[in-house]
Amino acid sequence: MICFAHRGARGHEPENTLRAFTKALDLGAPWIEVDVYPVGGELVVIHDLRLERTTNGTGYVFEQEFSYLRNLDAGMGEKIPTLREVLNLIDGQAGVNIELKWPGTAEPVAKLIDTCCRELGWPVDHFLVSSFIHAELRHFHQLLPAIRIGALTGDLPLNLAAFAEELDADAVHANIEFVNQDFVDDTHRRGMQFYVYTVNYPEDIAWMDRLGVDGVFTDYPERVLSYKL
Ligand code: G3P
Ligand code: MG
Repeated sequence: MICFAHRGARGHEPENTLRAFTKALDLGAPWIEVDVYPVGGELVVIHDLRLERTTNGTGYVFEQEFSYLRNLDAGMGEKIPTLREVLNLIDGQAGVNIELKWPGTAEPVAKLIDTCCRELGWPVDHFLVSSFIHAELRHFHQLLPAIRIGALTGDLPLNLAAFAEELDADAVHANIEFVNQDFVDDTHRRGMQFYVYTVNYPEDIAWMDRLGVDGVFTDYPERVLSYKL
């Protein structure tokens, strides 16, 4: 099973900060997941729509000035990073799953990935772009079809993995609360990978293994990496 460090190693460090991404690399995570919003012409790495849970700021992320966000404490004195800073830190040491959290993210993310691949020579398979906002994901795919995409779902769709196949996705990213064998098998029959979030407990890791899923998002990469198949 592929191990994705969820928002960095958020079980150990403040989520979506450079500390969390450094920890994920130190733990040997082969993939790192980051959440991205577009704010004031920049791409910022943060999960929630609002600032209160993870920072000392208030209000909606998308309504702020970039300079306001940059002066906030995102935990242990860490700043909210830009996507560029995160990519520079990872620097090819792990694959990057970029989750598009807000409309208007597809275009700047496509531009940044394209720059990394063309100018820095980063391989296209270094990236996986995902979103719950399927129109945004489709737009990204049209802009940069060489980059793999994952269709996120927070429930169990009536037609199982059909929604992801319609998007020409490479993977379904499913919520563990709605995972079952039919969903996994249907995804595989349609030629896609099946990744599950968020898988933190040893019993859950073993359960995902029995279901035959291809990868898991975890706050504790070391638990997945030490799991014996
Ligand atoms: O991409 C997996 C997972 O991160 C999706 O849910 O809410 O943690 O961004 P969320
Ligand atoms: Mg996410």
